[in-house]
Parts: sequence; C-alpha cells; structure tokens
Amino acid sequence: MCGIFAYLNYLTPKTRLEILELLVNGLKRLEYRGYDSAGVAIDTPDGKDMALVKKNGKVKILEDEIASRRDELGANETVNIHVGIAHTRWATHGVPNVANSHPQRSDAGHSFVVVHNGIVTNYKEVKTFLEKQGHKFESDTDTEIIAKLIHHLYEKHPTYSFRELVEQVIQQLEGAFALCFKSKHFPGECVATRRGSPLLVGIKTKNRLETDHIPILYGKDGDNNHQEHRPHGRGELPTLPRSESTSEFQPLEDKEVEYFFASDASAVIEHTNRVIYFEDYDVAAVKDGVLSIHRLKRLTDDPHAREITTLKLQLQEIMKGSYSYFMQKEIFEQPESVVNTMRGRLNFEDGTITLGGIKEYIPEIKRCRRLMLIACGTSYHSAVATRQLLEELTELPVMVELASDFLDRTTPVFRDDVCFFISQSGETADTLMALRYCKLRGALIVGITNTVGSSICRESHCGVHVNAGPEIGVASTKAYTSQFISLVMFALVMSEDRISLRQRRHEIINGLKQLESQIKQVLKLDQKVLELAKELYNQKSLLIMGRGYNFATCLEGALKVKELTYMHSEGIMAGELKHGPLALIDDSMPVMMIVMRDPVYIKCMNALQQVTAREGRPIVICEEGDKETMSFTDRALEVPRTVDCLQGILTVIPMQLLSYHIAVLRGCNVDCPRNLAKSVTVE
Ligand code: UD1
Ligand code: GLU
Ligand code: MG
Repeated sequence: MCGIFAYLNYLTPKTRLEILELLVNGLKRLEYRGYDSAGVAIDTPDGKDMALVKKNGKVKILEDEIASRRDELGANETVNIHVGIAHTRWATHGVPNVANSHPQRSDAGHSFVVVHNGIVTNYKEVKTFLEKQGHKFESDTDTEIIAKLIHHLYEKHPTYSFRELVEQVIQQLEGAFALCFKSKHFPGECVATRRGSPLLVGIKTKNRLETDHIPILYGKDGDNNHQEHRPHGRGELPTLPRSESTSEFQPLEDKEVEYFFASDASAVIEHTNRVIYFEDYDVAAVKDGVLSIHRLKRLTDDPHAREITTLKLQLQEIMKGSYSYFMQKEIFEQPESVVNTMRGRLNFEDGTITLGGIKEYIPEIKRCRRLMLIACGTSYHSAVATRQLLEELTELPVMVELASDFLDRTTPVFRDDVCFFISQSGETADTLMALRYCKLRGALIVGITNTVGSSICRESHCGVHVNAGPEIGVASTKAYTSQFISLVMFALVMSEDRISLRQRRHEIINGLKQLESQIKQVLKLDQKVLELAKELYNQKSLLIMGRGYNFATCLEGALKVKELTYMHSEGIMAGELKHGPLALIDDSMPVMMIVMRDPVYIKCMNALQQVTAREGRPIVICEEGDKETMSFTDRALEVPRTVDCLQGILTVIPMQLLSYHIAVLRGCNVDCPRNLAKSVTVE
C-alpha cells in the first residue's frame, strides 16, 4: 500500500553514496503516501553480500542511520553496475518495527531480498509449507514468505533464470502486491512485478531511446499455464510449467542505462520522463542492462507491447496523481480500499467470513449483555451507520457513544459489556481515554483501527484493522467506508450459525461483493456533483435530511461540509422534522434529502412532501431510476441500489464529493482545514 523504489545503474558509474542518496530521495518523494517505517538494500563493498538498513519512523531517520554508517557501507567507492532497492511500509502484517520493515530477506546470507506493497492473503499456508522445509522466520510480515519461497525455488531449480523464479513465486501468491527483487545470485539484475498494486519503471539513457515501446514476451504454452497453484502446508510445491519466452528484446541503442522502479512517477520524474506503467501480471526483468517484460498467459485482447510514456507533468502534479488534493485521491481510492478491507476475510465463494483479530473472542462476545460502540467524529458516524444491522444480526442491545460525552457521564460499564473503540489513527485521545475507562471496569475491549501498532490497537484485547491504507487528508473518507464494512463483517460473523438469518446474510454478502463496481459507478457522479456545488458554495447553510440506514450519511455529510467548507451544515433526522427543523424550511434554505427505497421509504417521502409543501427545493439523493421520488425535485443524484444496510456506503460518497467541491470553490485548504489536525491526540 505504500512505496517501492529501486534503482539499477548499468555501466553508469556511481558511488555507493550517490546510490544511497538516490534511494533515500526516491523514498522521500513517496513520503506523501504515508508510511510507518523504511529500509534499503545495497551490495556490500566486497560485492559478496548485501547491506540492509532499516528504521522505524520517518525516512529522515533512515537517512541519518545511513550517514552514520557511511564507512561501513563503502560510501565513496564507485560501482559500474548495481541494483539497490528501497521501501516505505504501511504495516498490515505485524507491527511497525525494524524486523518487519522491508527489504525482507530469504536468509542471513541475503540470497534474495524483496520489497512488497500490498497484502498476501495466503501467506500462512505458504509459511507453514516453508517451515516444514526448515526455513526459520524472523518477522511477522506476509512479505517474508516471498523472500523465503524464491530461495526455496532457487535451490530446487538452480538452472532457472531470476525472472523465471519470480514467475514461479507469484503463481503461489494470493492477494495484492507490487514486488521488487534483488539477489546475490543474480548480480546486476532486478525483477519487478505487480498484481493489484501500482508499479512503473523510469528509463534513463544518454541519448533518446530509439523505440517508444517494449514488446511483451508471452509464455511458450500460450493460454493454459496461467492458473494459479498454491501449496497447502503439506507436501511439495506443484511443479509449474516453465515459461520459456523465445527472445529477449534489445530496446536500447546505448549500452549505458539507468532504471528506476517505483510505485508512482513522483519518485522518477527528477531523473527521467520516460516511463512504462506496468499492468497486473507483468513481470519485468533487467539483465545485462536490457529490460524485458513477460506475461505467462496471453489473453485475447492483450497488447503486443507496453508503451513508453513521456511524462509531461511537473513533480508537484504527479505527487497526487491526477488529483488536486489527497482528500480527492482518497475519495477515488474507495473502490480499492473497500476491497482491501474485505481481502482475506470474506470468502465470496462459500460466504464465510473470518476476522482473524477477534475470532477467538467471538464466543465471549456472544455471551455479553450489550455492545457499546465508542468513537469521535467520522468514526462515530460509522457506528451510527451500522448500529441497526448490529442490533438485527446480534440481537443484543447496542449503545453508540461519543467518547467525550461517554466520559463526561461516567457511564456505567460492566464486566459483561463488549466495548468497541473506532479510530482511523488509533490515537484519538478521547477514544483512548474511554477505552482505558472501560478496560478498568473489566469490559472486553475491541479496537477498530486503520493503524497497526497504534495505541488503541495495543491497548485493546482484540480488534480489526480496517486496512484502508494510509489516509492523509484531514477529513476522513476512505477510512469511514472501511470502518463501516468492518462493522458489517463483524455483524455477519456474529450471526454465522443462525439459520433464520441465512437469507439475510446471503443478501448482504452479495451486496458487499458488488460494492467495488457500484462505488465506481457512484464516483461517475463527480461532474454532476460539481455542478451542484457551484449552486451551493455561496450559501450560508446546508441541511441534510434522512432517516434509518441513511441517517449516518446525513451526519457524516454535514460534518464533511462543516470541516472542509466552514459553512454551517446540519444532519437532520427526517423523523424529527415536525418537532422543530421544519421551521427552517423556505424557498431559499438549501436542503438535501436522502430518499432510498428501503423500509423507511414511505416516511422519507412524507418528509420530502412536507419540505416541498413549504416551498423547499431539496436536492435528492435517491435510487437509480426512482422516478416517483425524482418527480419532487429538479436536482437528483442517483446512486445504484444495494441491500438496505449497505446503502449508506453509496450515499455518503456524493456527500464526500460535494463537500470537497464546495471547499475548493470557496478557496479552502481541503487537506488541512483550519483549526483541525489529522489525529486528535489531545482531549
Ligand atoms: C492478521 C494480520 C494480517 C494477516 C492475517 C492472516 C497483522 C496486523 N494482521 O490479520 O496481516 O493477513 O492475520 O490471517 O499482522 N488488534 C487489536 N486491536 C485493534 C486491531 C487489531 O488488538 O484495534 C489485534 C487483533 O486482535 C489481532 C491483530 O491485532 O491480534 C491483527 O489484527 P488484524 O490485522 O485485524 O487481524 P487479521 O485480519 O487476522
Ligand atoms: N503487507 C506488507 C507488510 O505489512 C506490506 C505493507 C505495505 O504495503 O507497505 O509488511
Ligand atoms: Mg490489541
């Protein structure tokens, strides 16, 4: 999920110091993506081994460590051909510490080292297999199995090329990854590959390249050798067909060449503007200075070559990709981040769900007398959003509490309570205080956090990492949808053995499966939302109304508008309209209403009619094609239909987009709203 940077110089002499600087600067360019630790691997001065430097925390700390070990690293010596790899890590498997940082190695002799972005979901099976073969593990990461596995395969198939070994390895892996390998046995060579995580290579030559594309070499037996084979703990690895690509391609006129593998172009642009963006399943190998791109299987619409793209963008632009702000980038990352939350947990084939972090506690949780969900801000809204489903599927009383208020009230808590603490950073002070308060009273403490190794994660008895990836924009977006899904998955786990709920569970799991594509569809509303923002941005206030499963979207939408645009906004429970808020309505008050065809549809329609009867002109968020609802308004945002309890995930996204666009139009600093900080570590 974070950053990879690798540098290969071929017949372009560089001192080790220059190489290290290059690697560290590459990492610094990727820093904005967020990370918790960093590391590099280069050859040792005698050329016989590798030196790994890894540090917890900022890249600066790694840089200082490198500076303090300059002599040992042979900083002043010049090398003609060399491969260095570097990484910033956002922990998903094992806490952030030096042992878990990347590069991960195959053995103490550094036969192979690897850097990895993403999550390998079947690492436990592979690990069990490798342990049986006598491999000793030194980290808690999923990544380490990759380094050990390639070593194992190398010993079994000593004649295989580096690239072939990597091809064998990735056929054993499930999950998402971008990988870069370096090996003592293949000096001067680098192999990189991806599936689901971004990766590109920058190419720098003295003269301009003769070619603007690199042909793709496909595996020899064409179409049938691509299916994945996985080890199953016992027994040997299946021997996979070897892909003998027929020819290597010499793309370069020059002999001297430098390659920069990176997660995004920001790390490369200062060196070269000629890049190739890799696609899933590409295996790129550099040998003798020649880059080749391989794929095991040829699909019918596969291209014959990868284009070399010329980057025209400025560094500043590239950092956020095509996005202007991190918040915008994070909104658009949601099709991906929701999948990461479910990855390795939800098996769509057999409809089973495993939340490894709370599995052992489920029997105890089932015996509790109530669930309490405690949080602040957006995280609190994720609790509001899922409360009804939790009540339905667990049949337990569910209390939803703002951490600060919960503490102010010195709320009674008992030993048979189960308390959930939800926080993106895992450091939210109020939430942490409430956690300690409940822990002292003997309740079971469950964390829902996005940050491995955070205080809430450490101090909770168990929990779920939402795995949304680092969130940089101060206003939370993708963490919210991932918290939402984590709580839904918890509700599903709690009802696993309830026959009467089978149909309901089935329908929810189906809904979860379709979220990725439905979110993509909702994001297409962007332009339309921008038009609405243009109508609204000069207003003083915006009311957002809804009820039932979509009430949380009103609260969260209003919070986004407040924090980003400094405009007044209020989420209103539509059922409360006639108890006061209706007095606010006239022909000039901006109102949004969320009206979905769920169990409270009729009631929402009543509210809509009450508002229009008082000359209100609400903007409606409704179900795709719902003509009846749309007949009450001239401005509607249509979102696809999903199961009622997941609809809030799809209705909140237009609100995220709307607050974003209003903020930009009002000239606000979207990523750092005034007076606010990303992680609120003070009470
Ligand atoms: C864990 C691994 C994951 C791996 C999976 C394979 C970590 C961080 N996660 O994921 O990489 O793919 O096993 O089975 O190594 N926890 C808390 N409080 C919190 C959040 C989590 O105490 O707020 C604890 C959990 O109880 C658990 C550990 O942290 O012991 C990891 O949690 P989580 O990542 O959610 O567990 P898995 O999904 O099983
Ligand atoms: N899953 C790997 C780990 O936890 C890689 C995480 C990343 O993408 O930084 O070490
Ligand atoms: Mg814990």
